[in-house]
Amino acid sequence: MNILGIETSCDDTAAAIINEKGEVLSNVLSSQTQFYKDYGGIVPEIASRKHAELIGYVIEEALKSANRTLNDLNLIAVTYGPGLIGSLLIGVEAAKAISFAKEIPLIGVNHLEGHIYSLFINNKPLNIERVEFPLLILIVSGGHTELVLMEEHIRYKLIGETRDDAAGEALDKFARALGFEYPGGPVIQKIGEKGDPSFFHFPRLSLKNPYEFSFSGLKTAGIYYLKKHEKELKTHLPDICASFEDALTDILVNRTLKAAKALKVKGIGIVGGVSANKRLRKKFKTRSKIPVYFPQKGFSTDNAAMIAINGLMHYKNGERSNLLLDAVSRLNL
Ligand code: KG4
Ligand code: ZN
Repeated sequence: MNILGIETSCDDTAAAIINEKGEVLSNVLSSQTQFYKDYGGIVPEIASRKHAELIGYVIEEALKSANRTLNDLNLIAVTYGPGLIGSLLIGVEAAKAISFAKEIPLIGVNHLEGHIYSLFINNKPLNIERVEFPLLILIVSGGHTELVLMEEHIRYKLIGETRDDAAGEALDKFARALGFEYPGGPVIQKIGEKGDPSFFHFPRLSLKNPYEFSFSGLKTAGIYYLKKHEKELKTHLPDICASFEDALTDILVNRTLKAAKALKVKGIGIVGGVSANKRLRKKFKTRSKIPVYFPQKGFSTDNAAMIAINGLMHYKNGERSNLLLDAVSRLNL
């Protein structure tokens, strides 16, 4: 079976081909970040125009590098939400056009579910057919920070989420205050790698609800620190980045481990862009008593392979979308 995944929810135009075992045959992504250098962030109108320009090429490239043609496809999975509406529409319309022209079944995929299924790409470290449920999932990206109880395949319960900023957003805004472009997470990680995380103690969280997160306090404390200590930036930038990242990852790890214990889950899965973070991975691995799973390298941030594998799961469950499939900007799990 050849499954085409399409992802255009934000600023990446992505297409991938996987097989029925969840093995990735091709994974193509065209990032638009370079277009937003002068704007200080993604411009939705430009994003949708770029998706429209690129989508045909990206799909063609995904087919070519998997050594397949449109005639070989058995299923199309496409992100229909949540995300930027103009961006989502381009992917959804492209998917519908191919589905109609080639008479191939179509599945609309929730982007957040896609991130969860990034854990199963290439069947390592989690085997999709032999998972021990329940799993506690931490979705941690630029737009989301939430804890989800996964009771079995494609069945979820939202346990708690951030009250304000997402963890990735706090990293991006802290990086921007330092003069770095989006995405900030990888930059902070790189600079902070050789820094001393105990250089400055940024506030950890003291929310009563153990399943909730909040990052606006940490973000504000970080930006305020930078304004007050301009001189230190020259000599202590790696230490400051390491300290900020240390606080942010402490919040994520401590709360997730507490929730995992209370919910008596069999394992923990960390997904979304921030799950690529090295400090976060190391802390989870050293502090957790139960197995912690991360996506394979390159599949933490937005990609179309995760959309394809989640689409396949829904297809096996007997679900089908049709040509009335519409893009939805706000969508829960
Ligand atoms: O999942 P994603 O690609 O897009 C969203 O759906 O938001 O996540 C993007 C977020 C950004 O905030 C980016 O700064 C963060 O993930 N990110 C990282 C790393 N790589 C990406 N944060 C920390 N460490 C990283 N290595
Ligand atoms: Zn995402």
